[in-house]
Amino acid sequence: MTIWSATSPGKVILFGEHAVVYGYPAIAAPVTQLKAHVRIETISENDPGKIQLNAPDIGFHGEINLLPQTNPIRVLICNLLDYFNNPSLPALKISIHSEIPVAAGMGSGAAISTALIKAFASVVNQPLSLEEISALAFDIEKIYHGNPSGIDNTVITYQEPVYFQRGRPFIPVKVAQPVKIIIADTGIKKETARVVAQVRSSWQADTNTFNRIFHEIGEIVQQARNCLENGFVDPLGLLMNRNQNLLCELGVSSPEIDHLVKTAIGCKALGAKLSGGGQGGNIIVLPMDEDVDGLMKSLENAGAVRTTCTIIDNPME
Ligand code: MEV
Repeated sequence: MTIWSATSPGKVILFGEHAVVYGYPAIAAPVTQLKAHVRIETISENDPGKIQLNAPDIGFHGEINLLPQTNPIRVLICNLLDYFNNPSLPALKISIHSEIPVAAGMGSGAAISTALIKAFASVVNQPLSLEEISALAFDIEKIYHGNPSGIDNTVITYQEPVYFQRGRPFIPVKVAQPVKIIIADTGIKKETARVVAQVRSSWQADTNTFNRIFHEIGEIVQQARNCLENGFVDPLGLLMNRNQNLLCELGVSSPEIDHLVKTAIGCKALGAKLSGGGQGGNIIVLPMDEDVDGLMKSLENAGAVRTTCTIIDNPME
């Protein structure tokens, strides 16, 4: 039996979600504490081409063809077979497991896609460039997100903080001083595609107001990039709070998010905001350095189902 495996991290959007769909910039960073794992193994020399999928997180164990035709994992495997010109393969079992919460704004779909793409490229022994991995994952993001900006597949593929603007090459953010962030999960699952679609109808109904909000978010993103690149950590808190207020105006916050944000600020955090699609999912908090454990406990006592501490930094050269 031969085994190939790959992992990919989750992600947080630090600033600029939703506005990024409309061409404004956003900043995102990988979260290496939470990963998607893909393992592919040969199961027999008989049944060439047969592909079994074992994905306990979605409660599926069986032949890939039994999944609905529009299932993102099935579509990705078809796309990969196409991309590699239908290679002849022995019967394979693909096992997928993810620590990244699903429908919680942390890029679980893009992480599963990129890990699967990397593992599959090893099976056929055809290494892919990061650009190719990101592009293949982006096609699947369209199934998960409807109208994705491309920020999730980018940050998860390149695994470094990125300043991202739709349709342009991304710019790596060189973080002058590592920044500790707490991620707290409201436990409410929300499909990003739905929230993105809701923002679109509100934008269509009141284009001027929404364009004004997107523009203000874009300005916050510029200031945040400047702070990150120059080691000004404390002002990031204020920028997070301003971004959160604008996200509330977009209608993408929720009572659970507001409650956790209020709890964080009440515990003297420097700033807090939702991260990702919103209306549930995760918030991010910029803590005062000394009280990280206490703050994580307070957020859990206030209803967070999970808290994670991560560091925004550049990968080691
Ligand atoms: C999702 O992580 C961020 C959104 O801006 C959607 C997107 O950019 O595709 C809400």
